[in-house]
Amino acid sequence: MTFRSFAIGLTLAFGIAWMAVVVVPFFSMRDVKPVAFDEAADGKTGIYFPKRTGRVANGAEVYASNGCYLCHTQVVRTTDAGNDLGRADWGGNKTDETRGDTRRESNVFDYQGEKFAQIGVSRLGPDLSNIGLRVQNYVKESNGDPKTWLYLHLYNPRLDPKLSTSKCPSLPFLFEDKAITGQTPVAALAVPTKEGRAIVPTPEAESLVSYLLSLKRDDALPKAINPAPAAKPAAAPAAAPKG
Ligand code: HEC
Repeated sequence: MTFRSFAIGLTLAFGIAWMAVVVVPFFSMRDVKPVAFDEAADGKTGIYFPKRTGRVANGAEVYASNGCYLCHTQVVRTTDAGNDLGRADWGGNKTDETRGDTRRESNVFDYQGEKFAQIGVSRLGPDLSNIGLRVQNYVKESNGDPKTWLYLHLYNPRLDPKLSTSKCPSLPFLFEDKAITGQTPVAALAVPTKEGRAIVPTPEAESLVSYLLSLKRDDALPKAINPAPAAKPAAAPAAAPKG
């Protein structure tokens, strides 16, 4: 092999990958236009607006600075990339009370309000695209507070008997061990502490929990950007055979 063909081969091998993974997605996603609902396909008109509430920008910073993205993805893969819709409650609720199966693939609007889309590096832990709804489901039966579940998980995931061998790191530095005089603060975690002290979340923990709770996939999308909903709408009943 001559040096010339080696250099051309090397440039092509990296160049094609760079075009496909960096250049094409950049130009197709840098200026996304709003998507309209289609009367015929969606049964309503108007523009789709991704709703998201919480301390998204601040929380995303705490999420990034603590390396959550190293073990958790935030992308429910599209069908052509190895579909994730088979996983219960990842891209929506598998059994939503009002809408049935709402699972769907991720789309570019899911990262609204974030400077950086935290798609993640590996999946040592489960995908967190829909963690807000998942935690709501966990605490539904016991009538618990999703925030409390998340604070305890962040403080030490292994305190939950079901997760006693969890690989998710504890983040005690996101909490303050405070001396209390008088009443115990409402936000104090129900964990063993020394007499006269309480563990309370810092503002960073509050932002992170607010961010995690904003991760919900519960909005109805226009068909145009939801090509593969988990459950196809119920088919019209078949006509009775004649004769
Ligand atoms: C070393 C890898 C690792 C890192 C880093 C990590 N996690 Fe986890 N996480 C896991 C694993 C593994 C699980 C699976 C359940 C378990 O074992 O607790 C998990 C579970 C979770 C869950 C519960 C998910 C569910 O579906 O029930 C939440 C919420 C969570 N992690 C949040 C975070 C946040 C927030 C951060 C960053 C501060 C973080 N994790 C960093 C590995 C990690």
